[in-house]
Amino acid sequence: MEKDIIVMGIESSCDETSVAIVKNGREVLSNVIDTQIPIHEKYGGVVPEIASRNHIEAISRVTKKALEQAKVTFEDIDVIAPTYGPGLVGALLVGLSYAKALSFAIDKPLVGVNHIQGHIAANYITYKELEPPFICVMTSGGNTQIIHVKNYTEFEVLGKTRDDAIGEAFDKVARVVGLGYPGGPKVDKLAKEGEPNIQLPKTHFENLDFSFSGIKTAVINLNHNNPNIKKADLCASFQKTVTEILIENVEKAIEQTNIKTIALAGGVSANSYIRKEFSKLENRGIKIYMPDLKLCTDNAAMIASAGYYNYINGSRDILNLNAVPNLTF
Ligand code: KG4
Repeated sequence: MEKDIIVMGIESSCDETSVAIVKNGREVLSNVIDTQIPIHEKYGGVVPEIASRNHIEAISRVTKKALEQAKVTFEDIDVIAPTYGPGLVGALLVGLSYAKALSFAIDKPLVGVNHIQGHIAANYITYKELEPPFICVMTSGGNTQIIHVKNYTEFEVLGKTRDDAIGEAFDKVARVVGLGYPGGPKVDKLAKEGEPNIQLPKTHFENLDFSFSGIKTAVINLNHNNPNIKKADLCASFQKTVTEILIENVEKAIEQTNIKTIALAGGVSANSYIRKEFSKLENRGIKIYMPDLKLCTDNAAMIASAGYYNYINGSRDILNLNAVPNLTF
């Protein structure tokens, strides 16, 4: 029997400090997440400098807790896998620098992970049987992409947003209707009380790109010009329209690649309406995978899983690995 590979994942790209211990890419031994949401809530969004400082304050404590919960020591770790981009540069640097120092101190290999690759890998933890190839619908606060996952370490972006990320649009809609930050879960909740009866614009492109700035502005204007508009209807209509936009592009991706296996990923894939509508595609012979809710938003278990696949594929980094805020595939 082959030796188990234990990976320590380290995530600090935005407002969650997270450290996880994952065995053989799929078995989570611990996944400690220290969220800064309450700190940033009063500013209506993430303040990068405050995020960096809080990561510094949290990182050692979170690491210690992750080791304790997994019942392992530094000796048992085979690989250290930090997120090195995309994300906020100051925030990324905290987790990455910590990982580099740790790799040097305990003499274990360092393997950098693309945060988006991590979101995709959240599916491997939830579904032990899932293997590439598949199409990933990556929807988060900073990204919206349709990705052809060719194998564990090879990706092709088939389409992406030309302006706002879908999560950014959710957060903005929440802010204008007075729900606060982070907006996605609040829009999701309020939409359940409303009817999707308001017509909102969709932007179409020849290829699989997205645009969410038009619909975002339409919601802002409708809310501004109609003080009596039912906020729940506005949220339900926004949610329904962006879901239709996602599904229309997924249909194009299926046509283009002939791949009928779809995996959702990223914070917005926690949305209950999006999950419900994507599930309905199963009636049309499309296989749908969705990460566990707690693995949709930022966490280090998904980073450790991606780090495992990078490692067994031969990837190694050295101590000059730098943070890359706009890292792409
Ligand atoms: O993946 P994530 O934690 O961070 C990034 O890598 O960006 O995603 C955060 C985004 C935020 O925009 C948040 O509002 C959104 O995910 N989100 C949701 C839901 N839960 C989180 N959006 C819609 N519905 C939700 N239930």
